[in-house]
Amino acid sequence: MTIHAKPPTLANRATFYGDNKFVIGLFGSNCSSGRAVTLVPERWTGDWQDCKKLAQMADAAGIDFMLPIGRWKGYGGETDYQGATYETITWATGILASTKRITAFGTVHAPLFNPIMAAKMMVTADHVGEGRFGLNIICGWNEGEFEMFGIEQRDHENRYKQAHEWIAVLKRAWSNDEVEFDFNGVYHQHKGIRAKPKPMGGARPVLMNAGASPEGQDFAIRNCDAYFTQAARENVEATQARIAAIKQDARALGRDLECYTVGVVTCRGSMKEARDYYHYAAVERADWKAVDDIMAIKGLTPESMGKEAFETRRTQYANGMGGVPIIGDPDYVAAQFERLHQSGLRGIAISMVNYLEELPYFRQEVLGRLEKKGLRAPLAA
Ligand SMILES: Cc1cc2nc3c(=O)[nH]c(=O)nc-3n(C[C@H](O)[C@H](O)[C@H](O)COP(=O)(O)O)c2cc1C
Repeated sequence: MTIHAKPPTLANRATFYGDNKFVIGLFGSNCSSGRAVTLVPERWTGDWQDCKKLAQMADAAGIDFMLPIGRWKGYGGETDYQGATYETITWATGILASTKRITAFGTVHAPLFNPIMAAKMMVTADHVGEGRFGLNIICGWNEGEFEMFGIEQRDHENRYKQAHEWIAVLKRAWSNDEVEFDFNGVYHQHKGIRAKPKPMGGARPVLMNAGASPEGQDFAIRNCDAYFTQAARENVEATQARIAAIKQDARALGRDLECYTVGVVTCRGSMKEARDYYHYAAVERADWKAVDDIMAIKGLTPESMGKEAFETRRTQYANGMGGVPIIGDPDYVAAQFERLHQSGLRGIAISMVNYLEELPYFRQEVLGRLEKKGLRAPLAA
C-alpha cells in the first residue's frame, strides 16, 4: 500500500520520507471550522468524508504531513467553533489507511491518556500506515476539557513533569530492549508491561510538541524530533538565532531537533483578492463571540492586556488562533515560505478556511514556485 521506497528508520520518519528542504503539513482539519473562527458558509466541515478527500488530495500533491488538533469541547459562538472534532489517533489511522505517502500525527494529551493504552493505539496506527504515524504530545491548558474528563489539571510545572514520565513509559514500551518491565515514577506506576508488536521497522514514530513556555521548549529538547515554535518573519536574524540556540541545546544532549512553525494561508490570484477574502472571512464575518470566549479561557481580556493589544490579538485569533498569517498571491506566499526557511525553520503546518477548495490552487501555484526555489523536491512518481 505504502509507496515510499525508504525503510521506516527514525531518520526517514523525521524527514517524512522525502527530500524537501522545507516541509509542509496541513493543520487542524479534524475539527469543524478547522482553525478559522468564521461564519462564512464555506468554512471547513471537518466531516470524515471531507477529511479523507483532503488527505488523498494532499497525499497526491506531496504534502508531507497532516497534524490534527486534540480538542474535546467546542468554543461556542454562533458556529460552536471546533465543536465537532474527531479523536486524533483514530482519525490518523483512517487517514493512513486511505493514503500512501503522507505522515499523519495523533495529538495526544499526556494527562488524559493512559500511556500503555496510547502506546498500543499508536502502534496500531503505525502498522496501518507502514511507518507513517507521528505523535504530537500536549499537556493541555483548557480547564473545561479536563473537568469534562473528571481529571484535575496539574499546575504547569507538574504538567510537564508528568509528561516526561509519560513519554519515558511510551519510549520503553516501543523499544525492542525489554520483554517485560515495571515503571515506578511519581506520576506513573506500572507493573509487568509487555508491549507487542513494536512500531514498524523497529524505529519509534516521530515525536513533536509545541509548548510555548520554557518547560515546553525543554520538553522538546529532551524528548522530541520536532518542535513547533513561533516565528517572526519581520526579524529573520532574531528567529535564526533563537532556532540555532534551541537546536544547539538539543545537540548538547546528543539529540537532533528540527523547528517548525504554524501558518494561516490565504492565497489568491492577486494581492487584493487575497486581502479582500481575508478581510471578509476573518474580520467582517468572524465569529467574534467564539473568539472572545477562547480569549477569555486564556485570560486575555481588555482589562488584562490593554485595549489596543487586545484588539490586535483578537484579529489574530479570528484568523487561525495565531500562527503566521500569509495573505497574498502565489509569488508572495512562496516568498514568505522562503523567508521562514531562511530563518532556520524546517517546515510549516498550515491551515486554510476550506482546505479542500483552496489546496488545488496552492498545489498548482505555490508548490511549483517552491520547487523552483529549491525548497521542495519534484514529486516522485
Ligand atoms: C502546532 C501546535 C499544535 C498544538 N496543538 C494543540 C492541541 O491540539 N490541543 C491543545 O490543547 N493545545 C495545542 N497546542 C498548544 C500547545 O500544546 C501548548 O499548550 C501551548 O503552546 C502553551 O504552551 P505551554 O504548554 O508550554 O505553556 C498546540 C500548539 C501549537 C503551536
